[in-house]
Amino acid sequence: MADLPTPLQIAAALSRRVVGQNEAVREMSVALAKKLANLRVGNILLIGASGSGKTTLMRAVEELLAANPALALRSTVLRVHANVLGEEAEIGLPGAKLLTRLLERARQQLGAETPVDRLLNQAAHGMVFVDEVDKIRAYVGGQPSIAGIRAQEALLTLIENEAVPFRLPDWAGGQRVTVDSSELLFVCAGAFEGLYDSVFHRVTAGQDKGVLKPVTVVEEGRVREELQFSLRDWMRSEDLFDYGITPQFLSRFDAVVMLEPLAEEHLLRIFLQGADSALRQSQAYFASQGIKLELTDAAARRIVREASRQPRLGARALKEVFRRVIRGHEFEPRNGANSEGLLAIDTPDVDRALALFRRRGDSAISSAGWNAAGPGGAPS
Ligand SMILES: Nc1ncnc2c1ncn2[C@@H]1O[C@H](COP(=O)(O)OP(=O)(O)OP(=O)(O)O)[C@@H](O)[C@H]1O
Ligand SMILES: [Mg+2]
Repeated sequence: MADLPTPLQIAAALSRRVVGQNEAVREMSVALAKKLANLRVGNILLIGASGSGKTTLMRAVEELLAANPALALRSTVLRVHANVLGEEAEIGLPGAKLLTRLLERARQQLGAETPVDRLLNQAAHGMVFVDEVDKIRAYVGGQPSIAGIRAQEALLTLIENEAVPFRLPDWAGGQRVTVDSSELLFVCAGAFEGLYDSVFHRVTAGQDKGVLKPVTVVEEGRVREELQFSLRDWMRSEDLFDYGITPQFLSRFDAVVMLEPLAEEHLLRIFLQGADSALRQSQAYFASQGIKLELTDAAARRIVREASRQPRLGARALKEVFRRVIRGHEFEPRNGANSEGLLAIDTPDVDRALALFRRRGDSAISSAGWNAAGPGGAPS
């Protein structure tokens, strides 16, 4: 097994896709190293704000394995959306669809000639990434949610059991078998929108009012009191129960890992270097129009600063802000480009576009008037 990657090597590979989020990357790397060594691994729950990199991290693992077929064979991986599980649980044995898909994936990897026993064994040692797990709440607004309860139960069936009754798909013979699912690794992720507010409320105004003490900060010679709150410090299991994650479900996770809010430095790296960054995509578009799009450092920082003012969108805010800046140019790529076909965007361009946006409001921007004026248009 000398050729298995170390956690450090795995983390380095994942970090080419995932900016920051060291704790989550490390946790995932160790889990993957164990899994690839065919060892038992505790399930992981990832909690992090929208746009903080949860799906990106799961994809990075998939890509890492896909790029190395020998590794991929060591652990079949499947990524699903949690609410699909609830829908599927309503029409059949809970978890059966998920096992079927793992089996199909194993068949793709090992070949259609592979004996079913071997495929079942491969599937039962796989990894399941359940994304958007916060969408399967057992209660929503104090009311029980049947779909959520069913989906959590469906997952529990697989997470808990050593003998899951399962009917093989027709291509595999259609018999009823039992599958030992105790070796499956589950990594679940969710944004748990609203959790931040409810925990903040609990420690500042609710049941535990006063436990979060203000700290004194000195800024530019002035002294003021500030509440420094981080979900990681204050979240308890009960907060997740209140959110609608059942205690049985939560207890199946060995590690609950919180992703961090992305700092401006992280956002800048995502914006400039991210694999699917809005800037790169736009540059590819301008190149297709014969134009080289460049952004000065200061302009990039200005965009990042604006994006960081919308922490709830995480890195998604970059796309939204950049779009405000670039959409007028995209309509007329040559407009503003020099004779060599270089379109350089600097801070005044960014400021003008952002100011225009603020003045007009989002809806007005969709009107035709925007394109006519363009971001470099009439200095009204
Ligand atoms: N830590 C990160 N590193 C690199 N890119 C990131 C990171 N966080 C977010 N992004 C970028 O932001 C976008 C959204 O990220 P992602 O889909 O991973 O968010 P998420 O945490 O799954 O959010 P949600 O809870 O809304 O599903 C992607 O385009 C991704 O490239
Ligand atoms: Mg996601």
